[in-house]
Amino acid sequence: MAQPFPVQRTCPFAPPPEYERMREQAPLVKGTLSGKDVWLVTRHAEAKQVLAGSGISTNPATPGHPSAPPDDEQVTPEERAAREKFTAGHFIDLDPPEHGRFRRLLIPEFTVRRMKELRPGIQRLADELLDDMLAKGPDADLVEAYGLALPSLVICQLLGVPYADHELFQSRTRTMISSMDDPQVRMAAAMEIHDYLDALITSMAERPGDDLFGRLITGGALSHDELVGVAFLLLVAGHETTANMIPLSALTLLRHPEQLAALRADPSGWPAAVDELLRYLSIVDWVAFDRVSTEDQEIGGQQVRKGDGIYVLGASANHDERAFERPDAFDPGRGANHHVAFGYGVHQCLGQNLARAELEIALRTLFERVPGLRVTMSDEELPAKYDGAIFGLTAMPVTW
Ligand code: HEM
Repeated sequence: MAQPFPVQRTCPFAPPPEYERMREQAPLVKGTLSGKDVWLVTRHAEAKQVLAGSGISTNPATPGHPSAPPDDEQVTPEERAAREKFTAGHFIDLDPPEHGRFRRLLIPEFTVRRMKELRPGIQRLADELLDDMLAKGPDADLVEAYGLALPSLVICQLLGVPYADHELFQSRTRTMISSMDDPQVRMAAAMEIHDYLDALITSMAERPGDDLFGRLITGGALSHDELVGVAFLLLVAGHETTANMIPLSALTLLRHPEQLAALRADPSGWPAAVDELLRYLSIVDWVAFDRVSTEDQEIGGQQVRKGDGIYVLGASANHDERAFERPDAFDPGRGANHHVAFGYGVHQCLGQNLARAELEIALRTLFERVPGLRVTMSDEELPAKYDGAIFGLTAMPVTW
């Protein structure tokens, strides 16, 4: 029988319990999502095979794609034009070779070296936020005061988006990625961010500076709508993901005091700990990994047909005992960097070097500067986004 999908997490730290049974059953399990049949990829090796993607498309316009827009016959020409304008530049949804046109322009902006240059600025922002939090203390909501604020400030500086407008893009992003809201409400929230960035790119184009969008504008390779789409993707992906990782990672470390003490004693362990946190928490699970097969092929011993929809279960792949020993244990020393928390293949996260730098600086600085940090709620009481496309906490009350 097909597995009804999605299945929810029941604990902030762990993938849905059903994933273990599904992984045992087969590398590809038949599922149903909103009445559609899909393949659910449960194991690490097959997850990488699908994400590396020969004979696989990520483009929602490809026939059979599970995120296909509504049937074209019911869509007016105006609606179609609006959709095309909105999705221009969303290269996360494009296949090669179109995808490469965007990726090649952006890779130089996100190299390890470029991210190294950003580190002193990220450190300064982390210190300023903690100065503020400590001055207002001795209690705070770590999500609001630190977890959400730090990556939002960093991505705003990188893109030239005024941080004063953070309430607009943070709240609309929350609505956009929540599965609780009506699709029209979510689309309206996305359009508000889009329109805001449309106006911003127009004003940037009048006087392009020596910054990321200044260089893209002067380079002339992207149209106005494509620039707006790239800004949309970077702004949303750049704050919401890392914002969920920071508080959840802090909580995980507080619940593993021995591992935290080891990191305090030897801070050279932080980069490996960050990768283990990314694997262990797997906050981006299946929503981002929507694909369709573009040919008849065999994956994990299963016959998959052209037009079959596929979801890779990232959290299941990252907890596959075939790839990670004792996968449900949090073990910063395990060398977890073959995880798929940033995806795999051509769409592997463009911002991963930035995310790693932010997480390392945010967590190290937090535990150095607030050594007595404690959470004032039990794990069961903490409000979690079980409904969201990206997993996280909506609040994390702390004291020190
Ligand atoms: C902990 C933080 C992050 C996580 C867990 C994460 C996760 C991911 C994942 C899983 C994908 C692949 C999606 C797919 O295969 O379809 C992805 C793609 C992407 N991410 Fe991230 N991300 C993070 C941070 C960031 C940041 C900080 C930025 C921006 C600066 C960013 C920008 C992007 C972009 C632009 C893509 C699309 C890449 C492409 O299609 O070529 N991400 N991310």
